[in-house]
Amino acid sequence: MTESAGVGAVAGAGAHIGLIGLGVMGQNLVLNMARNGYRVAVFNRTTSVVQDFMAGPARGVDNIIGATSIEQLVSALATPRRIMLMVKAGSAVDAVIAQLEPYLNAGDIIIDGGNSLFKDTARRAAALEAKGLRYLGVGVSGGEEGALKGPSIMPGGSRDAWEAVSSLLTDIAAKAPSGEPCCAYLGPGGAGHFVKMVHNGVEYVDMQLIAETYFFMRETLGMDVRQMQQLFAQWNQGELESYLIEITAEILGKTDAATGKPMVDMIMDRAGQKGTGKWTAQEALDLGAAAPTMAEAVFARAMSAARDERCAAAAQLPGPKPESVGGHGVSADDLKQALYAAKICAYAQGFELMKLASREYGWELDLGGIALLWRGGCIIRAQFLERIKEAYTRNPQLDNLILDPYFRQVVVGGQEAWRRVVAAAAQTGIPVPALSSSLAYYDSYRRCQLPANLIQAQRDYFGAHTYERVDAPGWFHTDWLVDGDVVSSEPV
Ligand code: 6PG
Repeated sequence: MTESAGVGAVAGAGAHIGLIGLGVMGQNLVLNMARNGYRVAVFNRTTSVVQDFMAGPARGVDNIIGATSIEQLVSALATPRRIMLMVKAGSAVDAVIAQLEPYLNAGDIIIDGGNSLFKDTARRAAALEAKGLRYLGVGVSGGEEGALKGPSIMPGGSRDAWEAVSSLLTDIAAKAPSGEPCCAYLGPGGAGHFVKMVHNGVEYVDMQLIAETYFFMRETLGMDVRQMQQLFAQWNQGELESYLIEITAEILGKTDAATGKPMVDMIMDRAGQKGTGKWTAQEALDLGAAAPTMAEAVFARAMSAARDERCAAAAQLPGPKPESVGGHGVSADDLKQALYAAKICAYAQGFELMKLASREYGWELDLGGIALLWRGGCIIRAQFLERIKEAYTRNPQLDNLILDPYFRQVVVGGQEAWRRVVAAAAQTGIPVPALSSSLAYYDSYRRCQLPANLIQAQRDYFGAHTYERVDAPGWFHTDWLVDGDVVSSEPV
């Protein structure tokens, strides 16, 4: 730790913010804050990490102060103190808060910038506010590069805490192409972390849809890596333009130095996950939101992880050989339309989930504003988020994204191609769980009549659960079996 960067050197001035947790995201956020003119005090549980940071990435940056204890960190801060936590979600957050509390005064602000579960955030906010402290749960997206150059920031918590940090967070956030910052107050309690969780659920779906499209190109269309790379790069020039499509093209263009083969072919097909996609699916189930594609994307990762079992099953469970199904009639343009339509229906599910959560928790989420927050800096940043913003500007009460005139025209226009892709995948035995689940969502949502009448009858048959009739109000029960005949339908 250099003298110029030591706590004593700047104690009089008082740092604007403290940051605990110097992982890659934490380090890059500190450098971002410092670049924007903020004085930042930093602490990490393993003090050698602080020393390495100060001697490495922070070397020569005057307004970063390394602290070797929590007490030292807190004493370096201007009041009211603002302390951002960039530690692993879960018990580590509670542990750091407990260590901090004895050194804090009423009005000081703790900002959790990790991927915490929004219910934990709401609990922590309530507990700390009861003690006079202020708390913000802030979703930060964009990976290492975003943290350094400008992430998308999704803050939730008490409004006055937000006001005390809004200029700092807005300054370090990404800016949308229109120039607006990708950072805006979302609502009280866990609202910010909820929106970040849905961002990640959508991220899982986006990645799964792209992966299925790549798999279809490879297995059914027989394209080589170079052709796929060119196609994704070309798609990135149009309405599909997004960070994830862009990096997909770059990934496909990468060669493994050790073997000379495409890098992507050298990577095991076993996907990891840290839990935010799962939370999104769980929350959709809890709130009764129809979000099947969000869940499918999580299941697809679980299936990928069971690789040994899949390889053993592959020898025993034959399916059609892709090359045996000739003339499946799918073009690259069909695939592009299928991907876009499926993506729109998946985002519709994510926005529906946020609408229901907003009602349930009383957050009054601004759905168009959230689309704008995701327009820059984050992993799912994409041109089409501008369209979502426009859709909610046209109609803030929009029931479902696919009812907006622009999205309706894309999905209705693309559905034939989409059906061709899903049908060809089924015929050639290529799993496309997200593409097909999104299509089932569309076909369910657009149908007035679904087969749930039969489900209601079954429920009433075996459990007297009652049902509604199409021709009369109220709830009814039928005595289904008397000598095999229906004998009555009575209101209950
Ligand atoms: C982001 C990302 C990030 C997430 C990783 C890994 O917005 O910057 O969503 O927060 O942690 O993408 O997530 P999984 O390990 O669950 O894939």
